[in-house]
Amino acid sequence: MIKAPATLRLDRLLSNLGYGSRREVQDLIEAGYVLLDGEAVIDSDEKIAVTPDLVTRMTVEDEPLDPLPGLVLMLNKPAGVTCSHKEQGPLVYSLLPERWGERNPALSTIGRLDKETSGLLLLTDDGALLHRIISPKSNIAKRYDVTLDRALRGDEAKIFAAGTLMLENEEKPLLPAAFEPVSPTRGFITITEGRYHQVRRMFAAVGNHVTALRRDRIGALALPDDLAEGEYRILREEDLAKVFS
Ligand code: URA
Repeated sequence: MIKAPATLRLDRLLSNLGYGSRREVQDLIEAGYVLLDGEAVIDSDEKIAVTPDLVTRMTVEDEPLDPLPGLVLMLNKPAGVTCSHKEQGPLVYSLLPERWGERNPALSTIGRLDKETSGLLLLTDDGALLHRIISPKSNIAKRYDVTLDRALRGDEAKIFAAGTLMLENEEKPLLPAAFEPVSPTRGFITITEGRYHQVRRMFAAVGNHVTALRRDRIGALALPDDLAEGEYRILREEDLAKVFS
């Protein structure tokens, strides 16, 4: 049996997408600013079938409708912004359109990068997907480009691969991680866990200090070269599939 698409009252749909309170979007609708297939829809309680093509068929104030729920984004996070809804200072959400901060369900980062870490960060409003990606059971590899303060000793790759390294104040050793040096003070490390400040603490455990950290891969999904720092892009199905491969 083919499943019927979910339907939503137009005012609820727009309000959930962050266009304003129910009252505000009702005013927008009644004033004729919302078009479906080129025709104004002026009844706020009109039931709208929420199908993927709606974003190509509906406009609000002459702009295409914002992406529907089920949104997944990749952001090239700059250093200096925080992955949090609450903390002080610049937040990653300030890099997205302002209206997206009012969406219900809300967008959240899929895991976190430290304030001073840059690179590939995923965000979604799909809670099940978020949990699937961050679950330790998914065992998804994350690769980081690490710049160090001091020259590598030469035994780091062996130590990280052993699966025996204990971080301070932790009770379980880290899972094996792969490290590929590319210069005396730089390399790529791939980890499958997401412990607090993990990469920085791993290098501290071998007597070094991370001076710059940038994530460039999650699973087989690479940060695109043409996605500048601070920019984001909606992830296509085929890109999302790379996260799990
Ligand atoms: N490891 C860190 O130390 N910081 C991050 O942001 C991610 C991994």
